[in-house]
Amino acid sequence: NAQLAEVMDTSDDWIRSRTGVERRRYAEPGVGSVELGARAVRAALADADVDPEEVDLLVSATMTPDVFAPANAPLIQHAAGLGPIAAYELRQQCAGFLYGLEMANSLLETGRASVAVVVGAEVHAGYLPFGPTAWGRLRGTHAGPVDPDEYAKATEGRAWAVLFGDGAGAAVLRRGGADEGFLAGRLFSDGAHHELIHVPGIGFRHQPYIDAAQLEAGMCEPHMNGMELFRQAVRAMPEALVAATGAVGLTPDDLDVVVAHQANARIVAAVANQLGVSDDVVPGNIAAHGNTTAATLPILYHELREAGRTASGSLVGFTAFGAGAHWGASVYRTP
Ligand code: ACO
Repeated sequence: NAQLAEVMDTSDDWIRSRTGVERRRYAEPGVGSVELGARAVRAALADADVDPEEVDLLVSATMTPDVFAPANAPLIQHAAGLGPIAAYELRQQCAGFLYGLEMANSLLETGRASVAVVVGAEVHAGYLPFGPTAWGRLRGTHAGPVDPDEYAKATEGRAWAVLFGDGAGAAVLRRGGADEGFLAGRLFSDGAHHELIHVPGIGFRHQPYIDAAQLEAGMCEPHMNGMELFRQAVRAMPEALVAATGAVGLTPDDLDVVVAHQANARIVAAVANQLGVSDDVVPGNIAAHGNTTAATLPILYHELREAGRTASGSLVGFTAFGAGAHWGASVYRTP
């Protein structure tokens, strides 16, 4: 946060108190979400003691792909050393990993797949509103002052730019018994809310699909209605958890832990409040990572697992709300 305050008009105190973020990481130039995603896939396979040849399904979720086409899915499949398997790409932004879990689970249940990997990977650094001197300050390669035009542009984008960090996470899933794994899930989408957060430039309705005027007008950066997003996220995630737990005769009270998307620590606290559970049931890690979009759920799950919060038999709720809007929840019994 202190470094960001050198390149825009913000402060550690503002960012911490309004969002809960204390630090976030940015990938080096040339390192994209495919590289981070492939590293996460390899680490998850090693952790699960599964050989890459056993995997017959990959589901990749990102809103920051390495290139416009093709999708990250085949690039991660290849980079992670997986065979020529079915590899899907999902575009549900912050709800991408949740949609990926539901999709992989469905294909496992129908027998279309036997070992699936779901990966969420993001490198947001490329669209952050920082110029060369600002990046130089952030990366420790420029000791001089930040160019005043760059400072003004970064300040214009400060409401969203301070939120995001880069990262990746992956999970290995295989078919299990009837009373374990994903017990229920509920997914929702409503494009009526697409302008809550969207990137209006780069797209084939525009001819040419990208030009200098769009870049100049900031059309290739996120446009965000932060307050309304906040309101919708606080309503939607608890409703989805109630629906998903209710589908198997349970209530949110039965959940041992809720792995909730991390867009703002105050949203996470409000979700716990809406559910009527203690803050400890809905833990957060946004302080250390910022919002890593599709990578948030697997990174948080990994950290909770390392901390012993997902022991065998635990009832885990997953929930997310993301641009689109897409949202939902899954209920998972740890095998
Ligand atoms: N530093 C300092 N001041 C700032 C910053 C900043 N980084 N950002 C905004 N401000 C200022 C504003 O300019 C405004 O100043 P003004 O009163 O003089 O006009 C003031 O702070 C208050 O701004 P608000 O936007 O009203 O602040 P709010 O308390 O709503 O917090 C925030 C903004 C943090 C963005 C919040 O609304 C939020 O977290 N919303 C949800 C965002 C979210 O979920 N984003 C992820 C989307 S998910 C996905 O799929 C990608």
